[in-house]
Amino acid sequence: MPHKNIDAAFGFATRAVHAGNEIDAETGAIRRPITMANSYALPYDPSDLNWSSAEGQIYTRNGGANQRYLQEKLQQLHGAEDCVVLASGVAALAGVFFAVLQAGDHVVVSDSTYIAAYRLLHELLPQKYNVESTLVDSTDLAAVKAAVRPNTKLIHIETPANPTLKISDIQAIAALAHANGALLSVDNTFASPFNQRPTALGADFTIESLTKYINGHGDAMGGAVLGAKARIDKIRSDAMVNLGGAISPFNAWLIMRGAVTLPLRMRQHNGSAQKVAEFLQNQAQVRFVAYPGLAAHPGHAVAQKQMPGGYGGVLAFGLHAGHDAHNQFVSRLRLITSAVSLGHDESLIVFLGENDERQHLYPAEFHAGFFRLSVGLEDTEDVINDLRQALVG
Ligand SMILES: Cc1ncc(COP(=O)(O)O)c(C=O)c1O
Repeated sequence: MPHKNIDAAFGFATRAVHAGNEIDAETGAIRRPITMANSYALPYDPSDLNWSSAEGQIYTRNGGANQRYLQEKLQQLHGAEDCVVLASGVAALAGVFFAVLQAGDHVVVSDSTYIAAYRLLHELLPQKYNVESTLVDSTDLAAVKAAVRPNTKLIHIETPANPTLKISDIQAIAALAHANGALLSVDNTFASPFNQRPTALGADFTIESLTKYINGHGDAMGGAVLGAKARIDKIRSDAMVNLGGAISPFNAWLIMRGAVTLPLRMRQHNGSAQKVAEFLQNQAQVRFVAYPGLAAHPGHAVAQKQMPGGYGGVLAFGLHAGHDAHNQFVSRLRLITSAVSLGHDESLIVFLGENDERQHLYPAEFHAGFFRLSVGLEDTEDVINDLRQALVG
């Protein structure tokens, strides 16, 4: 059967459908199968094989068929040279940090990130391995520049950031990192490759939690790192083969299946979240709304420049109300589910109270407690109506 030769000449939606898929040579099925084996047949004389290699097929922790197909699709969607998929978004973050950093190195890191990035860079690596880190407001280029030291090896940013939706300028920070001999890693989970592609903006590592938008159905965990081949090879051997963060073939298959509809889903998430943000900002009970698609958002101009697909499905907002009134609001919701995670088909909300350990790092309006809302794929009016009736109480 002819190879479809899917490459960057095709549009994003075409690549989402076809990249990584082929006709199965054995059965003629037009979908690649799930290969649930953990071992692969060895050659006649295996004694020369490198058991720690991620080249060729030996064992699923060294790289398996479904991982390879998913890597091909993600690499095409991001326009990156290479990709490694791992067991979770956190395995991908840890893979980058473990592969790049060593004792005595310094990292500059956004002050608003997913909690595990904070834990790894601000606590675990400094306490256990003598890696130093400085938290900065990465929306402020001068602050990033001032934080860089001669031993800064990596700048790690998240944009849009969890949970504040702060926007950092990828292109400007990449230039700053490279001028100082450092690398830039960007957690792209809130955007997905439909909305933003950091590799093209100069990032050395693009990190995705595949658990979120790329899978999109809330039923599998995975992570990916994209970048230049030599760097990704190092993550493959360090984080997958030796640290053991391999994704299961079934999860890789589920995520591959979910990723096919990424463009359709992201258009709906983007459009719906914009309308929900506009609705919320006009309600008297709402104290603030943070969404990069709102003209009043401090990162709107940078987001417009670097997020050509849209601004994503996640927003944050707070009420003119005390701690428990926020919990009561959530208990009145009939459609939106109170649960962590984001990028699922269903809308999800989580309350982060004024007692959250990192709230002192967030902008002032977040200090009194707030919600993170991931707007799902339901009819926009139904999501808005659910919020409306819960606001009225
Ligand atoms: C921005 C961001 N990065 C990374 C992660 C971690 O991903 P996972 O839960 O797949 O390990 C999350 C999870 O919420 C996230 O929001």
